[in-house]
Amino acid sequence: MDRLIIRGGRRIEGSVQVSGAKNAALPQIATALLSSEPLELTNIPAVADVDTMLAMMREFGVVVSRGPGRLLTLDASRARNSDAPYDLVRRMRASILVLAPLLVRFGSARVSMPGGCAIGARPIDLHLKALQTLGAEVSMDSGYIHARLKEDRLRGGRVVLSSPSVGATETALMAASLARGETEILNAARDPEVCDLAHCLVAMGVHIEGAGTHRVLINGVEKLRRARHDLISDRIEAGTYAIAAAITGGNLEILGAHLEHLGTVGAILENAGVAIWPTDRGLMVSRSGPLRSVDVTTEAYPGFPSDLQAQFMALMTIAPGASVIRETVFEGRFMHVPELNRLGANISLQGSAALVRGVERLHGAEVMATDLRASVSLVLAALVAEGQTTVHRIYHLDRGYESLDHKLVQCGADIHRVSE
Ligand code: UD1
Repeated sequence: MDRLIIRGGRRIEGSVQVSGAKNAALPQIATALLSSEPLELTNIPAVADVDTMLAMMREFGVVVSRGPGRLLTLDASRARNSDAPYDLVRRMRASILVLAPLLVRFGSARVSMPGGCAIGARPIDLHLKALQTLGAEVSMDSGYIHARLKEDRLRGGRVVLSSPSVGATETALMAASLARGETEILNAARDPEVCDLAHCLVAMGVHIEGAGTHRVLINGVEKLRRARHDLISDRIEAGTYAIAAAITGGNLEILGAHLEHLGTVGAILENAGVAIWPTDRGLMVSRSGPLRSVDVTTEAYPGFPSDLQAQFMALMTIAPGASVIRETVFEGRFMHVPELNRLGANISLQGSAALVRGVERLHGAEVMATDLRASVSLVLAALVAEGQTTVHRIYHLDRGYESLDHKLVQCGADIHRVSE
C-alpha cells in the first residue's frame, strides 16, 4: 500500500490545474448505458473511481476507448444486461447510478447493495422510491436490488425527494429521460454536477428544464442520439487546493476552477482571512494575514459542501480562537478528527459537531487515511505541521484526486510517495 511522506513548512504557490469533476464523470459514464449510440465525454479525470465505473461498464459489454484531451468514448450498442457485481459495487457507492440506466435499457436490473466511503448509513431509499414512482417494481434479495419495468417503458410522474439527494436526483433524471411523457422532480439537488448530467442528457436529445433549481422537468424520448459533452471541473478539488494555499499562507492560481461552483465556500474562506477572487483562467487564493476562526455547517448545494468539511477543519486547527463545525449531510463523517489530533490539533466531538480550538502549530506524525476527503485533510494539515508526517493507506486519496502529490509538489510542497 502506498504512503505519502510530507515535510511541512513550505508555502503552496504558483498555479495548479484542476481536473474534470469525478462526481460529474461517474453518472455521465453510467448514462452511456441508456443509448445505443456512442457517447463521447471529454475532461475525464484520471482517478480510481472512474476506473471502477469503467470496469463496471465493461462488465455490461460497453466498449470503452480513450482518445486525446481526456476523451472517453463509450459505445453501448452491444451492451448486455448482467448483474452489477458485489466486488465492483462494494468499492464505490456511486455504483448505484447504473441501476436506472440498466433498468430502462433492458427492462430489469440487478445491482449489489452499494459500499464506498464508510461515512454513515448512506441509504438508497430515495433512488428506489424515484424508480417506483416512475413505474418500476423493486425488491431485494441476497444483498441485491432487483428492479423491473411493469410495462414496456417507465411512465413520467412526479418524483418528490424528501431531501435533495444528489444521487437520487441523478437516478430520477436518467430514468425519466427514456420514460413516456413528462417527469417533474421536486426538491431536486442543485449541484453543478447534477446540472452537468442534465446538459449531457440534453446533448443526447432529452428535453430538460430547470436543472440547477429545485424543480426539474424532463420530457422523455424514445431513443437517445450520439453526443459529445465536456465535463465541468472539479469544485471539490479546487476547494482543496484553495485550502492548501490558505493553510500555508501561500498564493495560488487554480486554473479551470469556477468560483460560482463553490457556492458559499468563497465567502467562508474570506471570513477566515483568506482572499479569493476569480481570474480569467480560474481563481486566485491568497493569505498574507492571520487566519480567523469561523463556524461552518455543511448543507446541500449551494451551502458549504460536506466534501470540503474535513479540509476546512484542517484549516481551522491553526486558526486562533475556536470554531464549531457541524456536519448535517453525512452522520459520522468525522474519521479525520482523531488523526488530526495526532498531528497536535485540539478537536473534540459533540454529536454531529466538532469543536476546534486553534493551536499555534501542528507536529508531524504517522496518520492513517480513512476515507477520501478525510485523507486529504491529513495531507493539508501535514503541509504546515512541523517535521515529517507519514499518511498511510492513501489509496483513498487516489480514488478521487488526480495526481494530488505531483500537483502539490509543483506548487512547492515537499511530498514523496513510497510504494510497497
Ligand atoms: C454525492 C457525492 C458525494 C457528496 C454527496 C453530498 C457523488 C458520486 N458523490 O453522494 O461526494 O458527499 O453527494 O454532496 O456524486 N440519502 C438518503 N437516501 C437516499 C440517498 C441519500 O437518505 O436514497 C441521504 C444520505 O445518506 C445523505 C444525504 O441523503 O445523508 C445526501 O446524500 P446524497 O446527496 O445522495 O449523496 P450521494 O449522491 O451519495
